[in-house]
Amino acid sequence: MKIEGRTFVVSGGASGLGRATVRQLVDRDGYVAILDMNEESGKALVQELGSSSTRFFQADVSDTESIAAAVKGTKSWVQQTGKEIGGIIAAAGVSTPAKIIDRHGDPFDIKSFDFVVNINVRGSIDLVRQLLPHMIKVEPEALDGERGVVLLVSSSAAFDGQPGQVSYAASKGALASLTLPLTRDLAKYGIRVVTIAPSLFDSGMTALMSDKVRASLTRVMEFPLRPGKPDEFARIVREGIENSMLNGVVIRLDGGMRMPSKM
Ligand SMILES: NC(=O)c1ccc[n+]([C@@H]2O[C@H](COP(=O)([O-])OP(=O)(O)OC[C@H]3O[C@@H](n4cnc5c(N)ncnc54)[C@H](O)[C@@H]3O)[C@@H](O)[C@H]2O)c1
Repeated sequence: MKIEGRTFVVSGGASGLGRATVRQLVDRDGYVAILDMNEESGKALVQELGSSSTRFFQADVSDTESIAAAVKGTKSWVQQTGKEIGGIIAAAGVSTPAKIIDRHGDPFDIKSFDFVVNINVRGSIDLVRQLLPHMIKVEPEALDGERGVVLLVSSSAAFDGQPGQVSYAASKGALASLTLPLTRDLAKYGIRVVTIAPSLFDSGMTALMSDKVRASLTRVMEFPLRPGKPDEFARIVREGIENSMLNGVVIRLDGGMRMPSKM
């Protein structure tokens, strides 16, 4: 599907992998609605890229009403530009590590599990759910009758979660396993689903990692011996949109790395 002249909704678009995706899409003459909680970074990105091709909507993806307001705003922006929605990149996410039982023998607060799962899984699906009624009515492309693409962001933690990642792995594993049924639900509308599962990538989320953790992860890398760059993630997003044969798939983007148990 073409990126040029279509609008993409990128949650978590104000930072890290989402922000690199926004830049990539604007580079290819796409239009981007940036949904994020971080107003300051979101507005700064619009200022950098220009308000004719980007719009910022402050939204909390764990709050249905907040998504609804951003979707309403996106739809009226699309009405003004005439650039139909072509895809959703659900990149908003949190990691919030916690061992299920701490060194004092106390279990983690179930609210910390809810927090991660609500943002990463429920938030992704709620955003997709609220945009779909609009996307299924978009005029399909002549070739293949394609209407759009849903890109979800899983993680290596879906397959090799580390200690302290019960909540995160549960959320990212859910995104990986719902990829196929979502694909099957949307096939008749000409909407594809592609899920990307990155390993360690430079971003706001990983910037706070200690040198010790970073060094131990570098030791288990295969090749290359460095974290991924946000632009390398964004290039897979671009391929996911442009290559119509990518559908119902979870793409590991990890340089062959498998996350270790011990740090
Ligand atoms: N960086 C990595 O190594 C890595 C690896 C695997 C998966 N991921 C996934 O990639 C995605 C992007 O993460 P990143 O590394 O770019 O992190 P990041 O912290 O740089 O960006 C995440 C963005 O999501 C936004 N966000 C958080 N909670 C939100 C909410 N409730 N509503 C709206 N926006 C919210 C933040 O404000 C931030 O702008 C996440 O889903 C993350 O789990 C990242």
